[in-house]
Amino acid sequence: MDDIILSASILSADFAHLADEIAQAEAAGVDWLHIDVMDGHFVPNITMGPFIVETCRRISSLPLDVHLMIEKPERYVEAFIRAGANYVSVHVEGNPNIHRTLQTIRSLGAKAGIVLNPGTPAYAISALLPVVDFILVMTVNPGYSGQSFLAESVPKISEIKAMLERHPSSALIQVDGGINAATLPIAYQAGARIFVAATAIFNHPQGIQAGVKSLRTAVK
Ligand code: DX5
Ligand code: ZN
Repeated sequence: MDDIILSASILSADFAHLADEIAQAEAAGVDWLHIDVMDGHFVPNITMGPFIVETCRRISSLPLDVHLMIEKPERYVEAFIRAGANYVSVHVEGNPNIHRTLQTIRSLGAKAGIVLNPGTPAYAISALLPVVDFILVMTVNPGYSGQSFLAESVPKISEIKAMLERHPSSALIQVDGGINAATLPIAYQAGARIFVAATAIFNHPQGIQAGVKSLRTAVK
């Protein structure tokens, strides 16, 4: 399918060979690189900061899709955009001034995304549609790669698609968590067009190229 955007999450890449793994993903035809930023507070895990975004910017020309799973993201959006982020997504949960943060992301020249955890209903973002370029529906609870796709998030994808049509808005729906060749078509049918995958790309048993190909050809 050529109307899908594949965003390769480097969380499952081998960091001892990061440049090589990114080059392989790029050669295999991924569209974006997804960088999962975790602070050990908003989610239990701790991962990467602006430094890694800057590194990715040096070694790849792909758009950088930075998913902030951190408390008070407004303190860091500028640092990530300066480091080279093109897309910055922030969670609606626990962020009282999220509307302003989304405006800030846009004013700094990046595309703004709002993220919903599996426990957050679609209506939580209805007032934010005018200030978002994409909506990330988490299909696992954030924190780790390698978890299973939560089928109960599928109706929420359809609900958000309907909200976007009513609004109307050209924002795209992104999904993240447990995306593989079996689950991608389910999320696609519900309305998602941007697909994040870590395990299905970087841990594919036949290698990165085979992983990208199996996702790219999952929707007939
Ligand atoms: C989870 C992260 C995801 C993760 C996806 O909190 O936001 O981006 O890397 O990993 P997989 O594709 O293995 O579920
Ligand atoms: Zn992510």
